[in-house]
Amino acid sequence: MSRKRVLSGMRPTGPLHLGHLHGVLQNWLDLQEKFDCFYFVADWHALTTEYENPRRIPSFTRELLLEWLSAGLDPERSVIFVQSAIKEHAELYLLFGMIVPVSWLERNPTYKDMLQNLQSKDLSTYGFLGYPVLQAADILIYKAQKVPVGVDQLPHLELTREIARRFNYLYGREVFPLPEPLLSREAAKVPGIDGRKMSKSYGNAIFLNDSPEEVRRKILAMVTDTQRPRKSDPGDPENRCVAFQLIRLYTPEERLREIVEDCRAARLGCRDCKAELAERVVRSLEPLWERRAELEKQQDLLEEIVSRGNRRAREIAAVTLEEVKETLWGERYF
Ligand code: TRP
Repeated sequence: MSRKRVLSGMRPTGPLHLGHLHGVLQNWLDLQEKFDCFYFVADWHALTTEYENPRRIPSFTRELLLEWLSAGLDPERSVIFVQSAIKEHAELYLLFGMIVPVSWLERNPTYKDMLQNLQSKDLSTYGFLGYPVLQAADILIYKAQKVPVGVDQLPHLELTREIARRFNYLYGREVFPLPEPLLSREAAKVPGIDGRKMSKSYGNAIFLNDSPEEVRRKILAMVTDTQRPRKSDPGDPENRCVAFQLIRLYTPEERLREIVEDCRAARLGCRDCKAELAERVVRSLEPLWERRAELEKQQDLLEEIVSRGNRRAREIAAVTLEEVKETLWGERYF
């Protein structure tokens, strides 16, 4: 019995931070246990917003792959590949372009949000409007059944389902399954050091590739309970402390209870508390740093892993594309 297929992608637009690790990557790692997983770098998608600076994308792509592998994505179990190496995505994207009404794209809330939020960029391009069509091609070319994504991606996934449905209906054959989103656990909300959502653009992120010293420095700078200026004031960690949201993710149950009690009783000071957190975070990142150092020592290894992933992805994509073309034209054609 073959396992269900999971597929997801990330855009190579910068280094990963703890928010990505808890919100996305951990989920990807867990899915490897139960599904056939396909994970790819969505470099064409990065190009939709970075077309003025495309030359940064290759190094971001390598960086992303290194971080996935050092976090524990396993190339023996998952197909790890780069979108632009699989031309079949582009061909399917073109064919989908013929059947997708522009109105579906213009009313997409994620599209409208991004236009709003990225006003510094000119996103009035054909490619950016077509972003979710390309995403649909990414997913459907592998007939993926499950797609782990964040809530912001739900409109894109709904559109993927609509495109699949429309294709199947127009050409009279159930070529594509309707993929379902897999939302990651809610616990994964990671605060940045200033209490806002962790994000590269807010400058509040702890990156997976920070040095131990940087991690310590950033954590010691974290906002705690602002209504507790002195250690002798009782704290309210669960409701008022930013650092506590991170402490919660890194501290075993028993110790966590002690911390809460000691903070409430004004026995534990914020500095000591954050120093303990910093050590826990550093310790949890150490295996990643070690694996990364190993990978960087073996220059060809990354290339090999990705070539193998690309080859495997291409094989599957090519089969779907043949089926698509035959369904569409009604015959085997040139
Ligand atoms: N749009 C996704 C994001 O920004 C990245 C992506 C591209 C993707 N193609 C995909 C995610 C296919 C899941 C499946 O996060």
